[in-house]
Amino acid sequence: MKIERRTGLKKELSIPGDKSISHRAIMLGSLAEGTTEITNFLQGADCLSTIQCFQKMGITIENKGFAHAPGTVTIQGKGLYGLSCPSSVLDVGNSGTTTRLMSGILAAQPFTVTVNGDESIQKRPMGRIMTPLSQMGARIKSIRDNGCAPLEITGSSLRGIHYQSPIASAQVKSAILLAGLYAEGETAVTEPYISRNHTELMLRYFGVPVSTRDTTAQLSGITSDSASHLTGREVFVPGDISSAAYFIAAGLIVPNSEILLKNVGINPTRDGILRVIKAMGGSVAYENKRTLGGEPAADLIIRSSSLRGTTISGELIPALIDEIPIIAVMAAYAEGTTIIKDAAELKVKESNRIDTVVSNLKAMDVDIEATEDGMIIHGGRPLHGAVIDPKADHRIAMSFAVAGLAADGTTDILGSECVDISYPGFWGALL
Ligand code: S3P
Repeated sequence: MKIERRTGLKKELSIPGDKSISHRAIMLGSLAEGTTEITNFLQGADCLSTIQCFQKMGITIENKGFAHAPGTVTIQGKGLYGLSCPSSVLDVGNSGTTTRLMSGILAAQPFTVTVNGDESIQKRPMGRIMTPLSQMGARIKSIRDNGCAPLEITGSSLRGIHYQSPIASAQVKSAILLAGLYAEGETAVTEPYISRNHTELMLRYFGVPVSTRDTTAQLSGITSDSASHLTGREVFVPGDISSAAYFIAAGLIVPNSEILLKNVGINPTRDGILRVIKAMGGSVAYENKRTLGGEPAADLIIRSSSLRGTTISGELIPALIDEIPIIAVMAAYAEGTTIIKDAAELKVKESNRIDTVVSNLKAMDVDIEATEDGMIIHGGRPLHGAVIDPKADHRIAMSFAVAGLAADGTTDILGSECVDISYPGFWGALL
């Protein structure tokens, strides 16, 4: 896809549904009793992988949406013990969220399954869920013994644990909590910093009491007098702040722009990018703040701004981990230095995002250096169009498309169809 420099972007957009929430709605709807109807479900390839996995386990899921229209998804849930053994491998495609969260559920089913996905998924670390799930009694092995998919999971009876997670990861936390629904006694996860809390909010919404304190989330699985039980609900999925991020950045860095983004999720465990933009001097106004199914949302108005560098570290990182590539692009257009640290997790995302961001920004003439756990960007010098290889990583492709809108010359994004993972319709909305 070829991108040319633009000025004066004027747009009004509805942002597609949140990817994390869409995955969870399919999983909890499948495990609930009765019907769950999901509005504004994200029709991205990752969420479609989750649908297919649960359909393969005998759940009736009707998807009335298609690539560029959200539509509704209806699930006939069969309860916690209603999944059946799939006849072949569960294919998670490119989706780490499907792999890790579903593994927590599979750890307790009365059958053996193989979970596998694409080339990228086969390189992503699964030891982080294998360790705690094994402590709960699960039998889960990496078939090639390299800590990655393909995984073979044989369901077992589980016991609750209190897991001290070495990393702030919602995928790890959620895998443990979902396994905890089937475990005897209490299950708790304590993280170094709070990660996105959509699983906790949605479990509560479906009727499972989850308590949270500081960075610990806890639930009771099976006790002598009760067991967890989910009830089908109507779920409205707010727009994904991670997808909104590209249009927020475009509005800020392209001169004379004004963009209205409708219905963007602003959950405080996800809104790190908005806090960073404030620190950088960017203009983002909120309108129509509301809460739907426990998830806060608002409309955002973005106006072109002069940005300045900032430092991003510590507990802010999990609240913006997926937005670091686009924040790096904004930092390249900002005056002064931006330091991003404590973000070594970037190396194990869909691509090594320290490498893919730094090499591609260098190709656009940005003064940037990679560090062990992040990057340092000296912003403010003009960017030049270049050929960008996003290494099939959707967030890198979208970030550099935005970079190209304010660079001189042509920016050419290779393999641009990878945006379909999280934002089908992105190119039509942007160009
Ligand atoms: C996600 C959690 C994050 C995030 C990913 C989605 C989720 O991953 O990067 O895109 O839906 O739980 P980690 O839990 O690995 O940090």
